[in-house]
Amino acid sequence: MKSQLFSRFLLLLPWVLIVIIVLDIDSSRAPLPALAPRGGGGGGGGSGGARPAAARAPPQRRPEAALPTIYAITPTYSRPVQKAELTRLANTFRQVARLHWILVEDAAARSELVSRFVAGAGLPCTHLHVPTPRRYKRPGLPRATEQRNAGLAWLRQRHQHLPPPQPGVLFFADDDNTYSLELFQEMRTTRKVSVWPVGLVGGRRYERPVVENGKVVGWYTGWRADRPFAIDMAGFAVSLQVILSHPKAVFKRRGSQPGMQESDFLKQITTVEELEPKANNCTKVLVWHTRTEKVNLANEPKYHLDTVNIEVLQAQELPWLESLENELMVVW
Ligand code: UGA
Ligand code: MN
Repeated sequence: MKSQLFSRFLLLLPWVLIVIIVLDIDSSRAPLPALAPRGGGGGGGGSGGARPAAARAPPQRRPEAALPTIYAITPTYSRPVQKAELTRLANTFRQVARLHWILVEDAAARSELVSRFVAGAGLPCTHLHVPTPRRYKRPGLPRATEQRNAGLAWLRQRHQHLPPPQPGVLFFADDDNTYSLELFQEMRTTRKVSVWPVGLVGGRRYERPVVENGKVVGWYTGWRADRPFAIDMAGFAVSLQVILSHPKAVFKRRGSQPGMQESDFLKQITTVEELEPKANNCTKVLVWHTRTEKVNLANEPKYHLDTVNIEVLQAQELPWLESLENELMVVW
């Protein structure tokens, strides 16, 4: 009897051992606890290896998707430094989530240089053009009026058929200024019209809105303090809703003087009391009104002497570019 029991035990033993080993292997493969969703940062990449638990986690919306789009309207015109300026700007804008760049050339047609630049810029771009009438191309007259209006018209047309809400923020980004990345974080939360200091402008190190108890009560400026909004074009942003609900707000040629364009525009859409101060109650400079020195081309030969044709300030023949449509969307 005993030997019978023992032989049965011996018979079962390998099977028991096999079951134990299999169970052990399986538990060592069991899924890891679900990782916490990645907080903050907008970057979408980096899967970080296999994550078996991912299938069970609720679908995560990319944090970027909820951000209001920032529309940057940039007037630009042909000159030796143009490509350098646009390169500097694209290098900044490319790092900003959900930024749509509206480049408006001051020209009768889209240039090959800018068309080619936009195609390789690596961010969503719309490329428009409108020439400044010759009579307005004089020193002392405001610049880029027609180009900014073309950008506004495009924005309004694009959104007029879409249902609200369309979260978006508009910003006028001249091509020669210098923009910190922090500026875009600040302007992204604009509800109606937001303002902040601008460096290197108005004959001072900076101009800024003066803020008391969270409200703009005046302007720190060294130039024309009588301006209703003593602020540079780079010093404010407007929500898309405000742009759409004031369809007639545009930049005007008639009666406008340099330095008054900002005030003339802002008074059509807001009041000083309503302004939203950004950049720590307007105490931080996050954008600089830099101006690029006129380039010295004194030694540039009159006729082409080099053995190659290099696009520094003038595009070469690019037949494939001619087929580009009016509006060029490059989604990266
Ligand atoms: C200042 C303000 O910062 C500008 O926003 C304002 O338009 C300008 O004054 C004005 O007087 O109207 P400032 O540095 O003197 O700026 O002007 P620019 O940077 O030479 O021009 C402003 C923008 O208009 C730039 O993006 C520039 O590329 C563009 N622009 C300039 C044209 O599209 N066409 C021109 O003939 C000149
Ligand atoms: Mn400028």
